[in-house]
Amino acid sequence: MVTVNKNYLKLPGSYLFSNIAKKVKAYKEANPEFKDSVISLGIGDVTQPLAPAIIDALHKSVDEMAHAETFHGYAPDLGYEFLRNAIAKNDYQSRGCDISADEIFVSDGAKSDSGNIQEIFGLDNKVAVCDPVYPVYVDTNVMAGRTGEYNKERENFDGVIYMPCKEENGFLPEIPGEVPDLIYLCFPNNPTGGAITKEALQAWVDYANKNGCVIIYDAAYEAYISEEDVPHSIYECEGARTCAIELRSFSKNAGFTGVRLGFTVVPKELVRDGVELHSLWARRHGTKFNGAPYIVQRAGEAVYSPEGKAQLKEQVAYYMRNAKTILDGLSAAGFSVSGGKNAPYIWLKTPDKMTSWEFFDYLLEKAHIVGTPGSGFGAQGEGYFRLTAFGSYENTLEAIERIKNL
Ligand code: MLT
Repeated sequence: MVTVNKNYLKLPGSYLFSNIAKKVKAYKEANPEFKDSVISLGIGDVTQPLAPAIIDALHKSVDEMAHAETFHGYAPDLGYEFLRNAIAKNDYQSRGCDISADEIFVSDGAKSDSGNIQEIFGLDNKVAVCDPVYPVYVDTNVMAGRTGEYNKERENFDGVIYMPCKEENGFLPEIPGEVPDLIYLCFPNNPTGGAITKEALQAWVDYANKNGCVIIYDAAYEAYISEEDVPHSIYECEGARTCAIELRSFSKNAGFTGVRLGFTVVPKELVRDGVELHSLWARRHGTKFNGAPYIVQRAGEAVYSPEGKAQLKEQVAYYMRNAKTILDGLSAAGFSVSGGKNAPYIWLKTPDKMTSWEFFDYLLEKAHIVGTPGSGFGAQGEGYFRLTAFGSYENTLEAIERIKNL
């Protein structure tokens, strides 16, 4: 008789953003008169079109696919050299990080990589995550069987080390009492929008090296960093080559949410249990992944062209103007807000002691605005709410006006 992976049954409800999408759909069906006025500042999905340099690269590579001489079939499983070289040079070597092209694994996005990376580690590893946290890190470890049951009282999973990120600690995790094996860190942070200084990140790197931990560092939002002392990569810290894996995305810096491209860096010096993690991830990638499409990798290459860089700088500035609009507008309206300076997310305290979901319903019903309830990211997110800067400027202005007028 077929049995199922019972670990899946430990997961309560559906995935956070699927759940929100269902709620919004139901609201629109029940209130068709407001259907067109709903503004989504919920899921961190971009709204600006792909930059011209990227569109040009896509057109050109699509045309190449039409001729036998320039047609491309399966991509190399770890990524085309042209893209891996561009990444190594622009994202790492130009910042003084010692990362080479053959330590970069091109993929179809950081969500898949952040979910899949746990596969190369034993099930007996203890996982530490921030609370609140991007749900993929926890849910995929639950699916794999690396956690205990869902604890209804604490509203989180047994067997996971949660590192609370609250107002009192500036929304930054503190070194946990119990030593973990795998530490997930995301900076600039999703969902709080908080950033970490190089000095504070160095302390995590030192801790991981001292205790033999591996840091899985999600830097999907690095393009939004505006402050000098905030690192763009964990490899800016000394010793990170022997303790850290870094995940990167083209979704947020270049609008690839619907195109799909990302990469993971696994330095060759990262060895645990006597094994190079680089070789395990290469084996996994080679077996389970057939490479990101040629045309998409050419589009990714265009991100690093001079035109691409200039156009994307403008796109990031466009979203950061939204972030400032939200931050300034909500502060003026008396909300307690944070984030939004080095990240496209604004983290606010719900007013009048409303729970996160109560505030979600209130905003949807009274202002037709969709946000993300903080409790969806973990127990410590209760009483908070996330708004994204990825809307259009006009919608962002309108949304803030509506909130002010509530
Ligand atoms: C979010 O809203 O948290 C992001 O869209 C998640 C993601 O990038 O998968």
